[in-house]
Amino acid sequence: MLQFETSEKDLSVTPFLDQLQVEFKKIQQVMATGGYVDDRASLNLLDDQAMLERIAQLAKPYQDAKVVILVGMGGPGLGARAVQEALTGIYHNLNHTPRIFYADTVDSVRLDSILKIAEKTLKDRQKLTVIIATQSGGTTETIAAAATLQALFQSTGIDPAQHMPLITNEDSKLDVWGDEHGFTRILVPPKIGGRYSIFSPVGLFPLAVLGFDIQTLVKGARAVRDQTLTGGIKKSIAALSAVQIAKHYKTGKNIHVTFIFAPELESIGLWCRQIMAESLGKNQLGITPTVAIGSRELHSMFQLYMDGPDDKITTFVKIMRTNGRTVPEENIFSTLVESIENKSFQAITEAIFSGVVRAYTEKKRQYAILSLPQISAETIGSFLQFKMLETMFLGSILGVNPFDQPGVEAYKVETKRILAEK
Ligand code: PA5
Repeated sequence: MLQFETSEKDLSVTPFLDQLQVEFKKIQQVMATGGYVDDRASLNLLDDQAMLERIAQLAKPYQDAKVVILVGMGGPGLGARAVQEALTGIYHNLNHTPRIFYADTVDSVRLDSILKIAEKTLKDRQKLTVIIATQSGGTTETIAAAATLQALFQSTGIDPAQHMPLITNEDSKLDVWGDEHGFTRILVPPKIGGRYSIFSPVGLFPLAVLGFDIQTLVKGARAVRDQTLTGGIKKSIAALSAVQIAKHYKTGKNIHVTFIFAPELESIGLWCRQIMAESLGKNQLGITPTVAIGSRELHSMFQLYMDGPDDKITTFVKIMRTNGRTVPEENIFSTLVESIENKSFQAITEAIFSGVVRAYTEKKRQYAILSLPQISAETIGSFLQFKMLETMFLGSILGVNPFDQPGVEAYKVETKRILAEK
């Protein structure tokens, strides 16, 4: 289970915990009703065994692919990647099959590189799976990349319908098109917003194709959701985190730093950035999320966090690993830095982490520490659910709707208009 502590002694003195009772009741109601009728319905995905089994079944025919390309923007682009990199690292492709590539761009150079990989895979007569994930079914970047990959299959005489599963909302334009053209569709239940979609087919189907244990991921999420539900708002780590962030936001600290001491969680950081920015940035309000990786950013951002304007609140994410390599006892560098011989890298990381917390405390910078016992499907599931709940609670305190994204929709409409003019 995740552990959570804050630099504040007592968060219950703020009015926000009581204020959150209203949101808490809504969450309880949504869960009691079940199904997918409320914007908070992503919480009900965790009990939807039929959906989980359907995803596992539908993923099977693609699991023997040598290469998988995931095409998707926003939630579909960030979620599965965050989990994959957390669990098998950024070097996944060196020692795992299927290899995975993310096409979350229309940048011609990046797309060209991915197309070359796709071409080579087909030329070598290896199995290529291209997953197209767009809930609306009409995001320009996604459909442009999908069209190009579909044309590639066709040009090599391979039926794209057999190799391009489509993840989309029921009755979206893509669902209708896919149905007409014989493509497999994995449908996302209604009321699941893109950044709350990681435990829906949007996140879970690609992960299942890659062979990850989606049941355990969901189990971890359930543990955090149920901790909030059974323990109540005052014990909920997601609510406490939201209250601390909101308390400082109201006094002008409008930047939130997710400072993660595990480089393989960097993409999780990007996912965190999206959920906070896109959910809360509206009506002239919002918290600017930034991501830092320990200990790398101690040598790039930390000076600013320590001595720059006191306008930030930091959540440190720490992994309580117990094993790993050690610095050799006999080494020619031993005179350069003292006391590191024979120490584990984890022990060195912990010394650095404690140094950071001590420096923050002395400087009276505000922080929270979220500790994961290890990186596993279960703890990552817990972490993602923690962030989604925290965001819902923050939306409630700030008085913004955390489930829509009118700004994003505005650029999508304008892009389509401009393309139509040309
Ligand atoms: O969180 C959101 O809703 C957005 O970031 C979407 O995920 C993103 O814009 C992609 O949308 P779609 O899934 O419709 O392609």
